Amino acid sequence: MSRVKRLFENIKSDGAVFISSYPNVFYYSGFSSADAYLLITARERYIITDSRYFVQAKLECPDFELVDIKKGWEYVFGLIKEDTIYFEENNISYGMYSMLTGKVYAKEFIPAQADINLPRQKKDKHELEIIKEAEKIGDMAFSHILDIIKVGMSEREVAFEIESYMRKSGATGLSFDTIAASGVRSSMPHGVASDKLIAKGDLLTLDFGCVYNGYCSDMTRTVVIGEPDSKQKEIYELVLKAQTEAIGAIYEGVLCADVDKVARGIITDAGYGENFGHALGHSVGIQIHENPNFSPKSTDVLQSGNVLSVEPGVYIDGWGGVRIEDLIAVSDGEIINLTTSPKEHIAI
Ligand code: GLY
Ligand code: MN
Ligand code: MN
Repeated sequence: MSRVKRLFENIKSDGAVFISSYPNVFYYSGFSSADAYLLITARERYIITDSRYFVQAKLECPDFELVDIKKGWEYVFGLIKEDTIYFEENNISYGMYSMLTGKVYAKEFIPAQADINLPRQKKDKHELEIIKEAEKIGDMAFSHILDIIKVGMSEREVAFEIESYMRKSGATGLSFDTIAASGVRSSMPHGVASDKLIAKGDLLTLDFGCVYNGYCSDMTRTVVIGEPDSKQKEIYELVLKAQTEAIGAIYEGVLCADVDKVARGIITDAGYGENFGHALGHSVGIQIHENPNFSPKSTDVLQSGNVLSVEPGVYIDGWGGVRIEDLIAVSDGEIINLTTSPKEHIAI
């Protein structure tokens, strides 16, 4: 079923849908730049953009009729007869919302972010292949960086090496700012690379991802610079056990909250529950953080086509932290780990 058809199954109405966020413009039309909008009805598909993108829009969105944004919003919404417009309430400025609801006075605007996003939760085979390739680039970058990391390099230098390797391998960008957090800085779950120099005995958490053909990758490995001490070993083994057992508990149809519970239970029983503050995992796709999540509050059931991270961590202020993250795909009853980098204790 086409993506637009799936969208209208969710909306269950004969209204129109106005798309204003890059991820949803890309998902429904294939247009790969920002600065475009979609107006879709059951029968019509319009892409609204400016002259910088006319050639690109014609190439990438052959199913959409191109409308010059210069014609104005009254003209755009006058193209359709539907009076009800479903829109992305989380992706529109107050200014634009006021302008639309003021100018397009005959139309009723209804928030529908969740329904518009929903089809993106179930990746099709083509999307799964792209995410697999994206994750492979991450794996290759990790293998590359293991040969390069040296005492005295800054976290920023390490991050730059990972990033440039991924770009040279076909990535068009980063999923998020690369995390390279060493020593006590590794207790910051999202410690973006700094000028700190890597020292002997440091834990080093590397969390990175690239964008490849429009889709994100995401992985984390924590390494030790030199031989790990007993506490580093204890925490690493704990996080690895939590991650391995959580992955083992995943199956199509499982409650996402129950997968989080497996990892959280192991870490809590070891006395570190307070040191694992975030959810176990999130979905990954066109955006780095999508739904559903492996979180204690989730009410979602895992379905074929879902791609989620499994990333338990233990973070101890003033000491450091360990996180290990893989991407898991669910495909026709099978659970596939898309991340192949080794996880046994890595000493550099
Ligand atoms: N740093 C992004 C993530 O792993 O969620
Ligand atoms: Mn990550
Ligand atoms: Mn993640």
